[in-house]
Amino acid sequence: MFSLNKVIIVLSIILATFVSGNTVAAETGHFGLGTKATKAEIAGWDIDVRPDGQGLPKGQGSVSQGEGMYEAKCASCHGMFGEGEGRWPPLAGGEDSLTEDRPHKTVGSYWPYASTLWDYINRAMPFPAPQTLSVEEVYAISAYVLYLNDLVEDDFVLTQDNLASIKMPNEANFYMDDRPDTSNTRCMKNCKDPKKIIVVESLRGITPEQEASESSTAASKPKLSAAAIEGKATYTSSCVVCHGSGVAGAPKLDDKESWAKRLEQGMDTVVKHAIDGYMGENGMMPPKGGNLTLTDEQVKNAVQYMVEAE
Ligand code: HEC
Ligand code: HEC
Repeated sequence: MFSLNKVIIVLSIILATFVSGNTVAAETGHFGLGTKATKAEIAGWDIDVRPDGQGLPKGQGSVSQGEGMYEAKCASCHGMFGEGEGRWPPLAGGEDSLTEDRPHKTVGSYWPYASTLWDYINRAMPFPAPQTLSVEEVYAISAYVLYLNDLVEDDFVLTQDNLASIKMPNEANFYMDDRPDTSNTRCMKNCKDPKKIIVVESLRGITPEQEASESSTAASKPKLSAAAIEGKATYTSSCVVCHGSGVAGAPKLDDKESWAKRLEQGMDTVVKHAIDGYMGENGMMPPKGGNLTLTDEQVKNAVQYMVEAE
């Protein structure tokens, strides 16, 4: 028969291990909560590999070793040749497609460094069982994926020493983001009274507020030319986003001074700027406001509206 005594003994052993394990590890300070991460725990998280190869564990794997492993563990989703099964992501192909309307981004066509491939496979694949691959398997499968992308020969052996020297075709198109964090210079003297500085809701107008612009423009200039009336709908659909509230340096519709200055260049230039786009002192006016489906005539009429409605 089932013995209650045995159950109790087993339970107390479990309990004793649990309690003593906890008291040994508990930290004093910080309310006695938490434990210091052990070296082994940190090592478990610290698995990133950098483009220069830093972080790679010692090991190697060849294209030919990788072939079988890839077919067994990866091909069901990513395809025998990296072409992708169904809607699973492809891992190969897509060379020179990045400038097309529908770029085909793969390890070979898009990724900047081979280290990302090693790191990604090691960290996240195979999808249903991440971090189950051995170091040697990750080297071999990475070598095979590089081979599928024609980046290495079929007798290639990938090691911790040669991974960083593999040049990926798209590397040069990645660069460090060199834009400054802020676009304004810091004011150190004779600054504005902080009480008078108001933060304007600068993205107002992203959802065109037709009614608001209608009522304000109707009041200032009721009589619009036929071209301007034509152009109003274009303005509301494609221009108000920036020109309604002055986003990104765009002259606001009602900024009379700015429009008067601009018209000094002649209407033709102003219209040309709106059609072709240009980089001005205040910011960038994209060609046709970014809506390239507009005809030149529609843009011209929209400018006419903007000039008359200001
Ligand atoms: C069950 C399907 C499945 C299997 C098996 C699988 N993957 Fe994936 N893999 C995915 C999915 C889904 C993604 C996209 C994950 C995401 O974007 O979050 C992916 C993404 C990737 C990517 C990144 C692709 C990119 O361009 O962003 C690589 C590289 C990759 N897998 C390699 C492998 C390798 C190597 C194996 C075998 C060891 C493997 N995968 C097994 C489903 C799978
Ligand atoms: C993404 C924001 C944005 C959109 C959308 C936009 N513009 Fe502009 N536009 C600007 C900026 C910024 C400037 C000012 C550039 C400068 O002079 O520094 C500008 C300037 C202009 C000028 C003045 C040209 C000159 O020579 O001074 C006209 C005219 C103009 N836009 C027309 C339009 C029309 C018409 C549309 C819609 C079809 C439109 N814009 C949509 C940002 C935008």
